[in-house]
Amino acid sequence: MYMTLGFASVLFAVASVAEGTQPISTWLADSAISRGQGHGLAGSKPKISYEHGTFQRALTALYNATGNATYFNYIQSGIDNIISANGTVGGGYKLTNYILDDLKVGQSLIQLYAATNDSKYKAAADTFRLQIDSHPRNKAGGFWHKKTYPNEMWGDGQYMLNPFYAAYTATFQSTNTSAWSDIALQFNLFEQNARQNTTGLLYHGYDESKKAVWADNTTGHSPCVWDRAMGWFSMALVDVLDYFPQTHPGRAQLIGYLQSLAPALKAAADPKTGAWWLVISSPGRAGNYFESSGAAMYVFSLLKGIRKGYLDKTTFFPVAEKAYQYLNSTFIRKATNGTLLWEGTVIVGSLDGNGTFEYYISQSVDENDLKGISPMVLASVEYEQATKL
Ligand SMILES: *[C@@H]1O[C@H](CO)[C@@H](O)[C@H](O)[C@H]1NC(C)=O
Ligand SMILES: *[C@@H]1O[C@H](CO)[C@@H](O)[C@H](O)[C@H]1NC(C)=O
Ligand SMILES: *[C@@H]1O[C@H](CO)[C@@H](O)[C@H](O)[C@H]1NC(C)=O
Ligand SMILES: *[C@@H]1O[C@H](CO)[C@@H](O)[C@H](O)[C@H]1NC(C)=O
Ligand SMILES: *[C@@H]1O[C@H](CO)[C@@H](O)[C@H](O)[C@H]1NC(C)=O
Ligand SMILES: *[C@@H]1O[C@H](CO)[C@@H](O)[C@H](O)[C@H]1NC(C)=O
Ligand SMILES: *[C@@H]1O[C@H](CO)[C@@H](O)[C@H](O)[C@H]1NC(C)=O
Ligand SMILES: *[C@@H]1O[C@H](CO)[C@@H](O)[C@H](O)[C@H]1NC(C)=O
Ligand SMILES: *[C@@H]1O[C@H](CO)[C@@H](O)[C@H](O)[C@H]1NC(C)=O
Ligand SMILES: *[C@@H]1O[C@H](CO)[C@@H](O)[C@H](O)[C@H]1NC(C)=O
Repeated sequence: MYMTLGFASVLFAVASVAEGTQPISTWLADSAISRGQGHGLAGSKPKISYEHGTFQRALTALYNATGNATYFNYIQSGIDNIISANGTVGGGYKLTNYILDDLKVGQSLIQLYAATNDSKYKAAADTFRLQIDSHPRNKAGGFWHKKTYPNEMWGDGQYMLNPFYAAYTATFQSTNTSAWSDIALQFNLFEQNARQNTTGLLYHGYDESKKAVWADNTTGHSPCVWDRAMGWFSMALVDVLDYFPQTHPGRAQLIGYLQSLAPALKAAADPKTGAWWLVISSPGRAGNYFESSGAAMYVFSLLKGIRKGYLDKTTFFPVAEKAYQYLNSTFIRKATNGTLLWEGTVIVGSLDGNGTFEYYISQSVDENDLKGISPMVLASVEYEQATKL
């Protein structure tokens, strides 16, 4: 699947690494690799993490686009850092902690198994699939974001869980209709309960039990639209659609959700810069700012949505391009050693606090943060392909 496609579709060459001529996509990724980022380690200790899974997803796109084995090998060694020779998942993973974030590296397991036939990757993927089987759910069937956040669904979790769930199902259980329906259900529930009807934007999350301190007492949604959560949601849609069967009615629903989200994103973009506010539901409010990683997620989702034919190019390409150019000129800094740093990504935004505007803006902003660099690599791969740079 991926690997065959990857070798068959070399869309641009990365032979030239001379400064100024190397594409942003590979330059950013090579910079992160040179710093040892996203490699299944925290310091020298194995560590499972969604940031690493997201970086691996970005490297998969680069490997697909360039055919350069450097990217594949980095994904493989990063996974080998967190699983043993028999496929036991380490790096601090514990199935019964029921953390959706841990599943983000799962897509890499499917990809590595397809490329190598090494049963350890299948064994590790099976462990994650077992987590899904017993992961706690709310009454409507939505997966809790974590065992410690009862009944809460977050936009973030849709990206951590669903692309793996879909990749696993497509690879090992392609006729399991209940699994496909279950994946569609996650998006349906989030749309029904977290959509802000006036704008079409999506709140950070919702609590079916409405017990969380931040929960609205009608639908249980959190008070703010946080850019990164909606970014994860948008990336989940376009990635899950790569696997989702043409014959299942959920496919049309997912495409419909992307088609309603895209105009809402267009309307919410700052007219001057093309960027998006950290707290999108409070544009221009004192303390709010243009956050870099959420915008990169939207650019990626819009460009991939256009490439796949889900979104109209005339309407949405200018939105993505304007934002991309702003991100490129504002948040990329060249270090004296020639590597690129990525700035302007907020370190955390969680619904374990009070979910207010004050909460989101009080979180610190990182420079050179892996969390934000992966979406920018993904956005850059799409932009470079779309413009044939
Ligand atoms: C693959 O990418 C690495 C890192 O950018 C680079 O050093 C190497 O020259 C590339 N290999 C090929 C065959 O392009
Ligand atoms: C790989 O590249 C092909 C051709 O551009 C594309 O259709 C496919 O979506 C890409 N896959 C990934 C995982 O990026
Ligand atoms: C798999 O490997 C781990 C770590 O090396 C070890 O603790 C475990 O006992 C092994 N399990 C089996 C079934 O061999
Ligand atoms: C993996 O095994 C299958 C079934 O035996 C075979 O068709 C495929 O070519 C193998 N792939 C690799 C990468 O070895
Ligand atoms: C199909 O998927 C459902 C939902 O995840 C699961 O409960 C079931 O065990 C799967 N069926 C098979 C045959 O694996
Ligand atoms: C949006 O409108 C639908 C249909 O009227 C309603 O079911 C849903 O609760 C509303 N969502 C929110 C977040 O208010
Ligand atoms: C809903 O919550 C508001 C505060 O956010 C409260 O004033 C109101 O009484 C609640 N309504 C109901 C029906 O519980
Ligand atoms: C990105 O920024 C660099 C340096 O400012 C510039 O040379 C390049 O043309 C920009 N690329 C795009 C696609 O805007
Ligand atoms: C290059 O410089 C940046 C910024 O000072 C630093 O974070 C990074 O570790 C350096 N890279 C290498 C390979 O030393
Ligand atoms: C919410 O939390 C933030 C800090 O995270 C704090 O500044 C703010 O006062 C809190 N708001 C309420 C209503 O408790």
